[in-house]
Amino acid sequence: MNHLEITNTPVILGLNNYSLTGKPIINQQRTLKEVASIYQDQEVAKQFPDDTIAYTVQAWMPVAEGTSGGLFFGASTIMPGKVGTEYFMTKGHFHSLGDRAEFYWGIQGKGMLILMDRDRNTWAEEVYPGSLHYIGSEIAHRLANTGNENLIVGACWPSDAGHDYDEIARNGFSARLVEEDGNPTLV
Ligand code: F6R
Ligand code: ZN
Repeated sequence: MNHLEITNTPVILGLNNYSLTGKPIINQQRTLKEVASIYQDQEVAKQFPDDTIAYTVQAWMPVAEGTSGGLFFGASTIMPGKVGTEYFMTKGHFHSLGDRAEFYWGIQGKGMLILMDRDRNTWAEEVYPGSLHYIGSEIAHRLANTGNENLIVGACWPSDAGHDYDEIARNGFSARLVEEDGNPTLV
């Protein structure tokens, strides 16, 4: 940046659909097949068409991953749907630097933020437009869409947080969010 220069930000957030445009933006897509192993009924998950998208993530990473002192900004979209009685959801993770916190906030649709501490206590917070969620140190987090439309959730996290997917891939969360009598229930 030059002294006295007035510039434009390189990234714009669409306030109607919350999509990010500009550079550099990262676009991730996860198919249901790719994440089938997170579901209780993996066989049912694998039977969905190859091109069924479970969720997408857009992110602006203004600094290199792993940089201390920076921030990343993202928006996740979880599609509506269920694998048996289990809602479409994200893989879920602890942060690699486990003490790094994160904010999530609901933008569109409805869902649950499933949280688990290192002692494997699991609980959930309802997500809806305007709900704001502080994900503290050493808390695994996963989003599930419990509605009939796309669930869109904003996120902001430290650039050195990283993602530890292994722990959840190995041992999962200690509870699953399923539909029981028409209601989302942790079991
Ligand atoms: C970043 C973060 C979100 C998730 C996104 C997808 O720390 O929590 O941006 O990465 O919601 O979920 P995962 O990464 O669990 O597949
Ligand atoms: Zn995270």
